[in-house]
Amino acid sequence: MPLNPRQLTKNIGVEIIGLDLSKKTNGKTLQEIQDLFLEYQVLYFGQQNLSSAAHVRFGQIFGELQIHVMNQYHESAHPELYRLSNIGEDGKPNGIFPDQGTHAWHTDASWQEYTGQATIIYCELATSKGGDTHFSDMYGAYDRLSDDWRHKLKNMRAAHSLHFSRNRRHGHQPMTHEQRNSTPTVDHPICRTHPDTHKKSVFLGDHAEHIIGLPYETGRAWIDELNQLIVHDDLTYKHKWKQGDFLVWDNRCLMHRVENYDASREGRTIRRCTTIDPRRPH
Ligand SMILES: [Fe+2]
Repeated sequence: MPLNPRQLTKNIGVEIIGLDLSKKTNGKTLQEIQDLFLEYQVLYFGQQNLSSAAHVRFGQIFGELQIHVMNQYHESAHPELYRLSNIGEDGKPNGIFPDQGTHAWHTDASWQEYTGQATIIYCELATSKGGDTHFSDMYGAYDRLSDDWRHKLKNMRAAHSLHFSRNRRHGHQPMTHEQRNSTPTVDHPICRTHPDTHKKSVFLGDHAEHIIGLPYETGRAWIDELNQLIVHDDLTYKHKWKQGDFLVWDNRCLMHRVENYDASREGRTIRRCTTIDPRRPH
């Protein structure tokens, strides 16, 4: 069956209609999915009914799955799945927004030496208001950088640290010593070349702490300024979640963030897995 893609915005995002991901997908269809992933950066499959096992199986199509260091979010039977929910043990909303770091623009696993490739996410429970995920195109961000910024950023590398971003946004629930020790600070080029499309993008976000070779505060100021400058409303797709929605996105050329919602009134549960690119950013 040929895929029936529908573009979600003029530059990023495509909806693939009529494909049941719980069933085995043939090689030709998988290749089409991979091609659309590279071309549109966000894939949206609606009205799915996917078990955790099927979710992991589909995720593996995109590469090797990360086992996230923040193991308190692991789904017990499938540690590849990172589960974020505000549903308490009594089955009701507990008022706590899980992982507040996700409010800030970021790219998944930029704090690892080998960074996030695809994030594959399934919505078990959606809110009626808020909780949307926003995606912003980092190819477009690179294209729109001023000559001055392009010159300043040439060959510059940013230091990325999960401890830095976690502490900043989630200081009341710090990382354990083991978690911290297994995530040393790494550095990546600020302007990177996508290993498959060979296009340039800006690679920063909330895990970027400082810039190698600049005084710490100067690097912080540049990163704060750039993290705002590189998000353009007309290059952004905002996804309003419905139960059964399934999204795949490319962390090498996008940033994303999650809107707040009233976690004391409405329940929201998503589970995600992320594949790691075996090629270092360059
Ligand atoms: Fe994320």
